[in-house]
Amino acid sequence: MSLIQERANAALATLERLQAVSGGEAGHAEAVKAAVLDLAARTELFPLDHYPVKPGTRGGFYRLIEAADRRNAIYVSVAAAASETDRRGNSPHRHVGWATIAGIKGEEFNAVYERIDDGSVPGQGTLRKRDEVTIRPGEAVYLPAGDYHHIELRGSEPSLHLHVYDLGVDSPEQGEQPVFLSPESNEYKTGVRPEALRYIAVPVVGPAELVELLRQHPVPILAVDEADTSILPPGTPAAVSVSSKDLSTVSAVVVDPSVPVVLVGGIEPVEIVAEHLARRGVRTLLRLPFA
Ligand SMILES: [Fe+2]
Repeated sequence: MSLIQERANAALATLERLQAVSGGEAGHAEAVKAAVLDLAARTELFPLDHYPVKPGTRGGFYRLIEAADRRNAIYVSVAAAASETDRRGNSPHRHVGWATIAGIKGEEFNAVYERIDDGSVPGQGTLRKRDEVTIRPGEAVYLPAGDYHHIELRGSEPSLHLHVYDLGVDSPEQGEQPVFLSPESNEYKTGVRPEALRYIAVPVVGPAELVELLRQHPVPILAVDEADTSILPPGTPAAVSVSSKDLSTVSAVVVDPSVPVVLVGGIEPVEIVAEHLARRGVRTLLRLPFA
């Protein structure tokens, strides 16, 4: 079986395991962490070259799988190595429901906060740091709904972590969550979607891996925004043309949600089309880099 198919199967099994754990029940945190840690332990399924750092940034946030309603959304987060002078961090924020992070490779520093003000002044709040954790392979942290956290890039090598959320990061509800201006600030904003999450990234598949995937079953290939399909390996089925600017062209393509879909094209157009397909329940989306 190809690595892509093995990863798709493992992701689906994890999604189903998470769906079987009902929120609020005793042991929820432990059950979620165990499911995510088991997937993170399959390090062979997550080669770094499938999850490149996005050009012009210090990381990348890749959709692995999620339910069509965005629940139990699993992502692969990659971060570049930090230097003494460049410790990338985000600002304290919270997720709509619970969140879990587990290590695949390298380190991810998390500071965890609770909100201690009474919420009576819009745009103002006070956080109290409750914990600091560095998540390495074999380790996981679970944040219950309501907890805030912020992440810093401190590792000396690139890192890969699974980030799993009760509700996907691109949900409208997530966009309304408070984001503090800094760990020290008492001021927060809502309605801000971090630039890094404007579009969720799509894992890379190489031509040789595509050939291996095609050996098992037919895989739809979509050429986004008139991408050059001459990079497709010989014998590949003809690509269907779709437009990231007219998503009705994507809706018109009949796809089986359980079969991987390969998108050929530039990074951002592919991400826009992938988002549309994820909403239609397509579980595995891959990007063949534009030559
Ligand atoms: Fe977060």
